[in-house]
Amino acid sequence: MTESLNLAMQGILKSGDHVVTTSMEHNAVWRCLKHLEKEKGITITAVPCSPEGYLKVEKLAAALRPDTALIVLLHASNVTGTIMPVEQVGQLARQKNIPLLLDAAQTAGVYPIDMAAMHIDLLASTGHKGLLGPTGGVYINEKYAINPFKFGGTGGDSIRDDQPDNPPDRFEAGTLNLAGIAGLGAGVDYILNESIDKIRRHEMELTGYALDKLRDLASVTIYGPLDASKQVGVISFNLPGLKSEQVAYLLDTKYDIMVRAGLHCAPLAHRTTGTIDRGTVRVAAPKVRLPVMRRAHLPGFCRQANTGGKTIKGLPADLGDGKRRPAGATAGDHESAGGLTGQW
Ligand SMILES: Cc1ncc(COP(=O)(O)O)c(C=O)c1O
Repeated sequence: MTESLNLAMQGILKSGDHVVTTSMEHNAVWRCLKHLEKEKGITITAVPCSPEGYLKVEKLAAALRPDTALIVLLHASNVTGTIMPVEQVGQLARQKNIPLLLDAAQTAGVYPIDMAAMHIDLLASTGHKGLLGPTGGVYINEKYAINPFKFGGTGGDSIRDDQPDNPPDRFEAGTLNLAGIAGLGAGVDYILNESIDKIRRHEMELTGYALDKLRDLASVTIYGPLDASKQVGVISFNLPGLKSEQVAYLLDTKYDIMVRAGLHCAPLAHRTTGTIDRGTVRVAAPKVRLPVMRRAHLPGFCRQANTGGKTIKGLPADLGDGKRRPAGATAGDHESAGGLTGQW
């Protein structure tokens, strides 16, 4: 997906262009924009969102300029789960004739996306989340003359010295990621068979359940909308007196629960939520029904861990300060934790 976002942004943006984005973006968007700022002299406006991750469309409208060449935003935050008002942003983009690039990493395969009604011109998605495949891809509306990112053989038009103009050959130099495409195809088949509505209902049910249980625990700080209808199936939280990595380590070693701790490749979003110093613990609802659901464990864990930062049995005292690390745990860099296995 990161390659897809690079293809779209590097292919569409020219020297001196202005881009509007949000303060909730993943590094897949943000670092590419910062690279283009340095390399091509583009200018970036990241519209500030609320600490819950909400975007006000009026703020985004106010950021548009005559030289704005692209609006790029995520459909839902991978930190707080907050769903963005893409329909309204799409309408605005259409009125102003500015292409809209959507980062659908957290929504593709789970949330209904109507490309025409939402006026989405370019859409990139991971494969390894809601689409249940290994790698993702990008949709490009043919009316945009996107420059290719790679050059080489396409299996056709071999006589030409330059890259063919016609999509998808224009963008598909070299042997394709065949395993990724086959895996993605299998994932999409499964989703179409199950139906997006059913998958989204399942995700909302689990997210609502986890939110309710976490909300019952007074000292747990939960970030984001706290409303399953306004967020996708990720929930970020922290416990008092513990670093997010410490909580992740405990969840893994004591409760067999895999979570991710740290900044989740989205420092911009953590500056917005006020969690840049400690990151968050993030749990994710599985997109499909697993044979064993460990619903009961998380609240039980939180009750035990809620000791106001005093010693907790089994927690290495200095985990998190970077000095001594038990096998399998990492600390201090806010980016990983024992039990981390995925990027949900
Ligand atoms: C919102 C968002 N955008 C982009 C990405 C990058 O996806 P990939 O690792 O497939 O390139 C992720 C992955 O975690 C994400 O959550």
